Amino acid sequence: MLTGEVESHLVSLVAPSGQEAEQYRALRHTVEQRHKSNALSVIAISSPGVGDGKTTTAINLAGALAQGSENSVLLVEADLRRPSIGQVLGFNGSRTVGLVDAILDPSIALEDIVQARPPYNLSVVLAGQVPASPYEVLKSPQLGTLLDQARAQYDYIVMDTPPLAIVQDCLVVTRWVDGVIVVMAAHQTPRALLETALDTVDPTKMVGIVFNGFDNLSSGRYRNRYPGYYTTPALDGAERRGSFTRMGRKVGAMLRRGEDAAVRNRRSRDRSR
Ligand SMILES: Nc1ncnc2c1ncn2[C@@H]1O[C@H](COP(=O)(O)OP(=O)(O)OP(=O)(O)O)[C@@H](O)[C@H]1O
Ligand SMILES: [Mg+2]
Repeated sequence: MLTGEVESHLVSLVAPSGQEAEQYRALRHTVEQRHKSNALSVIAISSPGVGDGKTTTAINLAGALAQGSENSVLLVEADLRRPSIGQVLGFNGSRTVGLVDAILDPSIALEDIVQARPPYNLSVVLAGQVPASPYEVLKSPQLGTLLDQARAQYDYIVMDTPPLAIVQDCLVVTRWVDGVIVVMAAHQTPRALLETALDTVDPTKMVGIVFNGFDNLSSGRYRNRYPGYYTTPALDGAERRGSFTRMGRKVGAMLRRGEDAAVRNRRSRDRSR
């Protein structure tokens, strides 16, 4: 049942032509280019830890892709430990069958679990029943079969997935996908955790790092500061892995500079009071 409004930081849905949605439009462009050149269709959005902005990025990227009326886009809630797409997109009320149900019961078809999200040009698969052991469910080849069916029907399948550095769930999911986008949060994602997370991703599947620059330090509440993203040119194997690890270090150094500046600003504000 669709009852609620979507949340305001889902800028690709609520203000798609605004400045805040610009970085997601740029990310959409990268994904569309890789769709043409490398047949990139199934994209996992993950991050090193919890609360980095995976769900926000997955919905905003799916929303940006869905802006292209020629694009058919499916958003899949595959973070079975902390599913939240249903709530933030306003699917409230009675539980519907979802991804887990279709993985456990092959007689449930993809069409049975896909829901439209009007007025957006977006189809959604929610998690469904939350299992006791997400890992066991996600490693089922039935997930691969469902994604193959989705690949035949949609241009882009954007998956909100579990964190990379904490449990093994995400690694089993990335087995079935064409590409991985790693989200990191300003002032939150520790650099070492980012590097560990980047090391776990198959370098041939890395699409890029999204820098989710929301800031809850200086203002005491979330303030959107336009996510940025980094991608590398087509590199292979170790070269590609090294490139992302270096990027992780660079991003870590940048964050430390940002944190130092935030602390300096706070101190000078306190002194001037
Ligand atoms: N760019 C942003 N602007 C404003 N708020 C944001 C932004 N990114 C994330 N948030 C807020 O931060 C919180 C965590 O974001 P989100 O749910 O996207 O992260 P997550 O990585 O999916 O978390 P989890 O690990 O719990 O699934 C949410 O309350 C979300 O509304
Ligand atoms: Mg989430």
